[in-house]
Amino acid sequence: MSRHAREDLVWDLIESELGRADAPAVAQVLDVGGGSGGLAVPLAREGCTVTVVDASADALATLHRRAAEAGVAGRIRGVQGDVDDLSGVVPEAGFDLVLCHSVLGVVDDPAAAVAALSAATRPGGALSIVVANRASVVLARAVRGELAQAAAALADADGRWGPGDALLHRFDAAGLGAMLQAAGCVVESVHGVGVFADLIASDDGGAPARLRALERAASDIPPYRDIAGRLHILARR
Ligand SMILES: C[S@@+](CC[C@H](N)C(=O)[O-])C[C@H]1O[C@@H](n2cnc3c(N)ncnc32)[C@H](O)[C@@H]1O
Repeated sequence: MSRHAREDLVWDLIESELGRADAPAVAQVLDVGGGSGGLAVPLAREGCTVTVVDASADALATLHRRAAEAGVAGRIRGVQGDVDDLSGVVPEAGFDLVLCHSVLGVVDDPAAAVAALSAATRPGGALSIVVANRASVVLARAVRGELAQAAAALADADGRWGPGDALLHRFDAAGLGAMLQAAGCVVESVHGVGVFADLIASDDGGAPARLRALERAASDIPPYRDIAGRLHILARR
C-alpha cells in the first residue's frame, strides 16, 4: 500500500494542474517515458488527449492494449522515440501539460532533456517532472548498513552509490530547478514523493489512509520534502 500513498500525491498534483481555471477543456498531454500508460490511461479516461513517447516498443504495446481495454484508444497516441530527439516526433509548443516521471535519471544529458521537454510545452503550459532524490539514496543506503555506498552517493555529483547503480543521475530541487530555469521555465512547486512510504518496510493494515495524509502534510515542508525518495517539480513555461 505504501506505493499508493506515493502515487496518490503525484496524481493529485496533476489533477490540480488540469483543474486550473485557465485550463483548456481538452488538455493536450505529453507523457515522455510514459511506459505502459500508468498515467496516460487514467488521463485519457478523464478526457485528455495523451501522447506517450517512450523508447520501449514493449511498453508501447502494453500501452495500446491497456488503452483499448479501457475504451480510450482514440485519445491515446503512442510514439516510439527518445527524449533526446523529442522535436523529431512531437510538435514544438504543442502541449498544455508535459509529464516526465522517473526518466531523467537514465538519460545521458538531463539538461538537454529538460530543454526538449520545455520546447514541447506551450507557453503558459506546465511540466510535471519526477526524479530520484539524491539525498534519499544516502539515507536509504546508510540505514541498510551499506555505509560505503552511502558515502559514495554523498560524494558523487550525480548521487550514484557505485558502478552497479542502475541510475545515472539523481537530483536535488536546486539542481533540477536550475535546469528548468535555463530552459525558460519557472518552478511553481516542489514536493517530496515518498517521504515516509519509502522508509516504511511494510504497512500495518490501517496505515494507508493515515500514511497518505501524513505524506500529503509533509510533502512540501523541508526537511521532510528534501529526504523523500523522489521529488516532484511542477514548472511553468
Ligand atoms: C522507470 S519507467 C517510468 C515509467 C512512468 N513514467 C512512471 O513514472 O511510472 C522509465 C520509462 O522511460 C522509458 N525511457 C527510458 N529512457 C528513455 C528515453 N531516453 N527516451 C524516452 N523514453 C525513455 C523507458 O522505456 C520506461 O518506459
